[in-house]
Amino acid sequence: MRQHGNNQEVLTEISPTLEEEVDNGDRVAVNDSFSVQRALSSETDARAQAMQVEARPEVTYGDIGGIDDQIRDVREAVELPLLDPERFDTVGIEPPTGVLLHGPPGTGKTMLAKAVANGTDATFIKMAGSELVRKFIGEGARLVRDLFELANEHEPAVIFIDELDAVAAKRTDSKTSGDRFDRLIEVPEPDAEGREQIFQIHTRGTTLAEDVDFAELAATTEGRSGAEIESLATEAGMFAIRDERTEVRMDDFEAALEKITDEDTPAEPVAFR
Ligand SMILES: Nc1ncnc2c1ncn2[C@@H]1O[C@H](COP(=O)(O)OP(=O)(O)OP(=O)(O)O)[C@@H](O)[C@H]1O
Ligand SMILES: [Mg+2]
Repeated sequence: MRQHGNNQEVLTEISPTLEEEVDNGDRVAVNDSFSVQRALSSETDARAQAMQVEARPEVTYGDIGGIDDQIRDVREAVELPLLDPERFDTVGIEPPTGVLLHGPPGTGKTMLAKAVANGTDATFIKMAGSELVRKFIGEGARLVRDLFELANEHEPAVIFIDELDAVAAKRTDSKTSGDRFDRLIEVPEPDAEGREQIFQIHTRGTTLAEDVDFAELAATTEGRSGAEIESLATEAGMFAIRDERTEVRMDDFEAALEKITDEDTPAEPVAFR
């Protein structure tokens, strides 16, 4: 038996009463000790697949560069109520129940949500990508209800809904759309200092030559996201490997930057006659 989401394999016996009902390859519901409860209908199964449970993501705040203010805001909104609920009781305010992270792609939003789950020992529940969600667009509300139910079972949990627009946009008729979230936090593209930090983070395990200058690299990567800087670091390493070197040099980073810049530029249309 495979448990969806975190690739665990568990061997379990089926009770005789269920033998009739369950076939090879069926998806089933299990309890906490992995004993099979019942077979899932294909509809329930598809809904379950739209949600992924990650017990404890490995990302920590230290892995995220350049968005310290956003980290602080998220921690205040999400972590404090989980770790120190009395503070809210004492002051007499309701803790925020949700945070909406928005901003350009590859800037660390998903990382940040995972780091919160890690930092609070919470379960990370992720609503899977768009295709599955789209299937249930008509039942957006139901899917969200399922999601919160799942979160209750795994309390404390961080629910992560990606491509929120896919779910929320279709629910504009509902008065509740949007105010699930009492905090809006914008995660921007990193500035030069942020890019320098991200270079450092993504080369922690890399053997670097003396001449590597991250401040300079940060200055020449204006507009690049964290995800792009990560692939730059990998690409630079590839240049060193191709050259049979053990150290990554400044010119490897420069070559990598040139390469990804070329990839960005759409090819000129060519006319054949
Ligand atoms: N601020 C950052 N610090 C360090 N690494 C980063 C940062 N932002 C992005 N990365 C790198 O890029 C990868 C993708 O980041 P992430 O998935 O968090 O982006 P996102 O903001 O959720 O993007 P999207 O809007 O496309 O979902 C991360 O796994 C990480 O390696
Ligand atoms: Mg994301």
